[in-house]
Amino acid sequence: MNVIEINGVTKNFPAKRFSGEKIKALDNVSFSVGSGEIFGLLGPNGAGKTTLVKILLGITYSTAGKASLFDKPVTDVNIKRKVGYLPENHKFPNYLTGEQVIDYFGRLSGLRKGDLEKKTYKYLKIVGMDEWGTTKIKKYSKGMLQRLGLAQAMISNPDLIFLDEPTDGVDPIGRKEIRDVLLELKSQGKTIFLNSHLLSEIELICDRVAILNKGALIKEGSVEDITTSENKYVFLTSDLSDAIMNKLLVEHKSTVQGRNEFSCFVNGVEDVNKIIDYLRSSGILIHGVSREKNSLESMFINLIEQKN
Ligand SMILES: Nc1ncnc2c1ncn2[C@@H]1O[C@H](COP(=O)(O)OP(=O)(O)O)[C@@H](O)[C@H]1O
Ligand SMILES: [Mg+2]
Repeated sequence: MNVIEINGVTKNFPAKRFSGEKIKALDNVSFSVGSGEIFGLLGPNGAGKTTLVKILLGITYSTAGKASLFDKPVTDVNIKRKVGYLPENHKFPNYLTGEQVIDYFGRLSGLRKGDLEKKTYKYLKIVGMDEWGTTKIKKYSKGMLQRLGLAQAMISNPDLIFLDEPTDGVDPIGRKEIRDVLLELKSQGKTIFLNSHLLSEIELICDRVAILNKGALIKEGSVEDITTSENKYVFLTSDLSDAIMNKLLVEHKSTVQGRNEFSCFVNGVEDVNKIIDYLRSSGILIHGVSREKNSLESMFINLIEQKN
């Protein structure tokens, strides 16, 4: 089942008062997110990520198109019970302690007092903040505030959690801890929707991603599909002679990385096999053949540059 369905969603903001001009924050965006997935929405600043999350949460409305959560329109108030949200740049009153923040949001979610006492510390512990529960949050670091925000998003035990830039400004160890919490939530069957411009993070935990640029969806798919090159293969071999290397260079635009490794462009799997036949008939041993992998970051930069 799809937990999130987005169909042709467009959002225009007025650019300047009375000017009649519009900012197209989202332009005919469609995709869906399945149950139990960690889904990453990527894009440069201003791409429309936060606007899309706000539409899904019913905080703002789309100009056109349809969106639903759990097969219900996003305007249905009953679905809010199933949803947790960590806003971008959240600000909790800094005279509260961590415990009081979680208690406050727990009560907003309708949890009862007795129930809450146990749950507050359960979730503070999950995010590694239980020892800081009685400390005022003005003493917290950015990473600690983000982890508290994460506990806040989880307190009502929602099935779907939206996290807008959860690791922004967090140091590498804090990021790893946040990733571990997200993986733990996934193992409990929760669906996680993550907005981020930090691509290496996404690559490590997301099952699928969508890339937004200037309001338009430019790519969507599994991290595996997006980062695997269609037509570039890497070969690991025994020592190659200069003659073989030259032939590969001329015929397959290969790039040689030392005597035992080269990568080349092919027009399909037949080409790969022809290269293997050629190498084998030349007495070369093959140690490995694989499709080339790109980092999500390099794919992302290529895609964004093509569109600009
Ligand atoms: N309330 C608003 N009024 C006018 N323009 C807005 C508003 N919110 C967002 N925008 C504009 O919409 C575009 C997308 O913004 P946003 O969704 O915050 O992007 P992202 O989260 O990807 O950085 C930007 O050009 C932004 O300036
Ligand atoms: Mg944003």
